[in-house]
Amino acid sequence: MGEDQLGQALEGCDVVIIPAGVPRKPGMTRDDLFNINAGIVKNLCAAIAKYCPNALVNMISNPVNSTVPIAAEVFKKAGTYDEKKLFGVTTLDVVRAKTFYAGKAKVPVADVNVPVVGGHAGITILPLFSQATPKANLPDEDIKALTKRTQDGGTEVVEAKAGKGSATLSMAYAGAIFADACLKGLNGVPDVVECSFVQSTVTELPFFASKVRLGKNGVEEVLGLGPLSGYEKEGLEALKPELKSSIEKGIKFANQL
Ligand code: LAC
Repeated sequence: MGEDQLGQALEGCDVVIIPAGVPRKPGMTRDDLFNINAGIVKNLCAAIAKYCPNALVNMISNPVNSTVPIAAEVFKKAGTYDEKKLFGVTTLDVVRAKTFYAGKAKVPVADVNVPVVGGHAGITILPLFSQATPKANLPDEDIKALTKRTQDGGTEVVEAKAGKGSATLSMAYAGAIFADACLKGLNGVPDVVECSFVQSTVTELPFFASKVRLGKNGVEEVLGLGPLSGYEKEGLEALKPELKSSIEKGIKFANQL
């Protein structure tokens, strides 16, 4: 019902999923939500640090590229930060990449795997179709179109809903897949791997989405990017400045209040 019940809601939680905040309207980027959502995320994270400091946190509130660094800073200040327990949920990007690839390659979507790396906004979303299975040998122009559609998938939904919000059911589906993977990891199920935006040394950026092995303590291992095509290498370099500035914006916000 409100902030005074946050303690009761959080006490004893192993996993906390944060979808709170406002969604986009047509014409907005995820970053346009920063001013409202950053404060909401900051307050919720302060409560997590107080009531369930060992929980795995699944951050859905946008802009994820900034809200994950905000959460990290709040936890650091509270002395509870564990980089193995903080996740930006990028599963919807994977769901979209799989769906669009399956359609183009004419294979059942349930059989498809596509890693999506980088971040969770526009060009920072980098699907690695060169590593997609089953292999389909799609022409370059198809790969470019699939990449763009994956990057703009959230915006496509925002525009289709014409002011009534952003993706809800597909986000819930993706959020459930990721939370379930976290719970499997906590329960000791072996070889649970999902893409997620986490603290990372895969690139020079402090946070980055890539495949992550989940286990009893959260992140067991941040997996590397694997071999990239020339197109993906270009995409990787192109996304770094935007992702870096979104991360820095989050860190700055958390430290100035
Ligand atoms: C999306 C929003 C929820 O990707 O970030 O649709």
